Amino acid sequence: MHFKVEQLPGRTEFGAIVRDLAPESLSDPAKRKALYDLWIDRGLIIFKNMEGINTHLELSSVFGEPEEHPLLRGVDMPREHKLIIDIADGIDVRSDGTIDYESDESDVYEIDGELRAAFLPWHTDLVYVDEINHGGIIRPVTLPKNDGQTGFIDQIEAYSRLPRDLAERIENLSVIYRYVVDASKAKYGWVPQKCLKLRAKLMMAEKHNSVRSRSIHPMVYAQEGTRRKVLNVSPWFANAIEGMENETGDAILKAAIEHLIRPDLAYFHKWQPEDMVLWDNWRMTHSAKGVATDDHRVMKRTTIAGDYALGRVEGAEAFPDELRIEV
Ligand SMILES: [Fe+2]
Repeated sequence: MHFKVEQLPGRTEFGAIVRDLAPESLSDPAKRKALYDLWIDRGLIIFKNMEGINTHLELSSVFGEPEEHPLLRGVDMPREHKLIIDIADGIDVRSDGTIDYESDESDVYEIDGELRAAFLPWHTDLVYVDEINHGGIIRPVTLPKNDGQTGFIDQIEAYSRLPRDLAERIENLSVIYRYVVDASKAKYGWVPQKCLKLRAKLMMAEKHNSVRSRSIHPMVYAQEGTRRKVLNVSPWFANAIEGMENETGDAILKAAIEHLIRPDLAYFHKWQPEDMVLWDNWRMTHSAKGVATDDHRVMKRTTIAGDYALGRVEGAEAFPDELRIEV
């Protein structure tokens, strides 16, 4: 197949490392199919020795159609490319793509006793709308001196390890999600103790029309083709169980989330300069450890379109006053 596949260190149930993939061979239909099938099977692929925006976009197209991030649609904000999101920790990226080291344009949280720039708790991308994108690929531009790992947990593996009584309890339940930009206000998961600073751009996102209503997704579903069951819960943004917005529902949701984010299920990727990392957003919850506030990290991400067609939007307004950001 002209590329090498290796197992992810320490993980048997998910993930793969792909080496020796020549970017100029990405137009080969057989190779594209083999890579797509590997992604569906393993959920997470670390591509080694890949670089540059053109390879980033071409590689993304193997797995679906790269799309503009929904929260950036109609937003007038300078970007390197319409189909690429800047993920900048501890710093800001100017409109011409250069780095503004002075701006300190980042979120800052107190988490586990430390100040961290651009920490992200465990989450599924776009779970706060009805249509969840199929995946994304991250490419590093500037790596930090320390930390900056991206965490991944396979929700198929997590489901397979659920205690039977909890699996039976959640089988036909659905979770309601609400976009809460300040992670310290999340109800569940890896919640920071305090938010010291939020990017203005993110506060704008919270006002975007697409997140004004709550979204609803099934707590369990079967992966198309393989019928493997997925523990389909995003800790960040989870708000309640549909039809059970009470202590009983909250306790079930909490138990499922605590099971999902057990440290023994997690793989934290330590980035190398020429890595590109692809995940299946329909089954891999992910997180970012963030960096020290004086460290620098810039990553670029594509959004791979798709719809698993199980999400819905609730009619209610998304934000009660107590969750609004004080500016
Ligand atoms: Fe994400």
